[in-house]
Amino acid sequence: MARTVLTIGFIGAGRMARAHAAVLRTMPNVMLKACCGRRLKSGQAFGKEFGIPEAYANYEELLARAKVDVYWVTPSVLELPTVAKACLRTCKAVFLEKPVGLSLEEAQEVADVAAQSSSIHMVGLNRRFYSNINAAVRLAEKHGRVRGIEVHAPEDITDLHDHHPPRVVDRWIYMNGVHCIDLLRYLGGEVATVTAAQVGKENSRGYAAMLKFTGGGVGQYTSHWYAPGRWRVALYADGLCCLIQPLESAKAIYRGGREEPIPLSEEDQRFKPGFYDQARYFLECIMAGKAVAHPGCDLPDYLKTVGLIDIINGEKPQIN
Ligand SMILES: NC(=O)c1ccc[n+]([C@@H]2O[C@H](COP(=O)([O-])OP(=O)(O)OC[C@H]3O[C@@H](n4cnc5c(N)ncnc54)[C@H](OP(=O)(O)O)[C@@H]3O)[C@@H](O)[C@H]2O)c1
Repeated sequence: MARTVLTIGFIGAGRMARAHAAVLRTMPNVMLKACCGRRLKSGQAFGKEFGIPEAYANYEELLARAKVDVYWVTPSVLELPTVAKACLRTCKAVFLEKPVGLSLEEAQEVADVAAQSSSIHMVGLNRRFYSNINAAVRLAEKHGRVRGIEVHAPEDITDLHDHHPPRVVDRWIYMNGVHCIDLLRYLGGEVATVTAAQVGKENSRGYAAMLKFTGGGVGQYTSHWYAPGRWRVALYADGLCCLIQPLESAKAIYRGGREEPIPLSEEDQRFKPGFYDQARYFLECIMAGKAVAHPGCDLPDYLKTVGLIDIINGEKPQIN
């Protein structure tokens, strides 16, 4: 029988759980039913704030006792692979925040569990659902197609040591760089060749990469870890440049110099950008009983992005 309401159990009760819950509670076919953090009191506080009736002491208890349709998984980054595997083994639907581990091997382990499960799952690469980025893509398609992509992702990581464990900072390209590196694939399609260069170490790393896509476009990526700046994406099509910097602010520049803003949707202004359309898409997949596909990101798709990170990070040979 087709479902009319999906019940959600949150694992993780921090900043991102709140950002997701703020979106999900506005959706008519959703009931926020259960939650937990690492400590009972953080689950209880989150539950109280969002009217979630069941707070559990830990995720094992939630998995054993809560009767929900979907697990919304947003624990601390180092905890996520273990929690993800336990959720996927239940074969219920699972939303996973990024990053799924801090290496290809860790992501592969989670993907292997997903491959043995009938779980409909999605990884939350919310930049794929930014309304202004998708509007820029639609505009580029009217001008032929996206032929060139520039992604510039500065990460001034010096202060991060105060907030994250050393391994998370060291693996920041997997932790946070994943958003922008994934955009190269999301916007450009499958990658045919990559040439990457890395300089420096620890807080003073710099990355540059040149990519050719199987669809015929080219892309470039830069990320400097020792200087401030905002993420920037530029898309090029015939007679058109869409400039998106920061990612929340986009404009179209036409041949001859005319400029036009590409605004964020109302939902992207109200909530963390991308979260509304991301949740809506995933819930539609679950309701329809179909696997996540473009524009969503399932684990096999996520592995391709992590494979690209490995090359840009110098961990794997270039594709030539
Ligand atoms: N998509 C994006 O743009 C974006 C942005 C920021 C973060 N993220 C991702 O979102 C995830 C969460 O980040 P956050 O900023 O929300 O972190 P946070 O504020 O530190 O919250 C983490 C939450 O996870 C809970 N937790 C930790 N281990 C757990 C476990 N084993 N079982 C159940 N709960 C557990 C913590 O519980 P206690 O409160 O009891 O310690 C806390 O409630 C990370 O994977 C991060 O990479 C995504």
